[in-house]
Amino acid sequence: RGVLAVELGDLELANPVMPASGCFGPDLAALTPVDTLGAVVTKTVFAETRPGNRTHRLTEVPGGMLNSVGIPSGGIAEFRRTGLGGYAGLGTPVVVSIGGLSAREYWRVADELGECGHSAIEVNVSCPNLEHGGATLDTDLRAMCEVVSGVVVRSAAPVLVKLSPQLHSIAAAARAAEDAGAAAVTVCNSFPGMAVNVERRESALGNDTGGLSGPAVKPLALRLVRSAAQAVDIPVVGCGGIGSATDVAEFLVAGASAVQVGTATFAQPGVMARIVEELPALTERLGVDRIADLVGTLTPSD
Ligand code: DOR
Repeated sequence: RGVLAVELGDLELANPVMPASGCFGPDLAALTPVDTLGAVVTKTVFAETRPGNRTHRLTEVPGGMLNSVGIPSGGIAEFRRTGLGGYAGLGTPVVVSIGGLSAREYWRVADELGECGHSAIEVNVSCPNLEHGGATLDTDLRAMCEVVSGVVVRSAAPVLVKLSPQLHSIAAAARAAEDAGAAAVTVCNSFPGMAVNVERRESALGNDTGGLSGPAVKPLALRLVRSAAQAVDIPVVGCGGIGSATDVAEFLVAGASAVQVGTATFAQPGVMARIVEELPALTERLGVDRIADLVGTLTPSD
């Protein structure tokens, strides 16, 4: 096993770096060969075709980006036809992100996904841009658990749960996901935010609000990762403003076992490949034999 190998429960990854759901497509795959990644994470798949939100869907803000994409999806049938969105059989674990507007919709996606070569499911219970405002599953832990436990019984593959940053207690949410049978939690989705166009007295997005991501959220996400990791025995996947090998190490020290890179890939499409290249030297400089030895090593300062 290599220096960069990490474990997510039973799932072994060659390195801790994977794209955040929704950020990896054919353009990026040209610059970041899939086999350099620890895993691929797909865009969230819904049961049926859906168009997503009206434009504008993305806007840059200081320190990051706001999006209100609204999860356009070709639906699960098309997703299967294209072979896990084109990533099946490439030798890299594929994590399929699934979504829905009701528990039944999530379960239908899990049922129809069946066993089609994926290594894990990531249940997206935290999109801030959906019709219902994303607020129900986000904050209603009981509803979230119903969705997750229903997916767990339908899935032979391990189930990750992508949590919202907007929770009263990330520790309680992570524990609830663990109790519902999750193999790992991803912390976290984008942060509810907005940008105002003052000339037009309008939101800069087609929706009033969107999800904030990028360097601006990194300290917030690190703190949530730390709290979640202290609360549960299952692994945590860190996500929020990661754009360098050092950022990866920060999330691992804070308690993450692997990480997802999203916003950084928009400005620097080759960023994940560069990070993976830089990680062995960073591991050595930090004085550990394997990058996994960094996980959760944070010590309280004196
Ligand atoms: O920030 C996000 N945007 N998080 C999601 O879960 C979905 C995505 C979108 O499509 O709006």
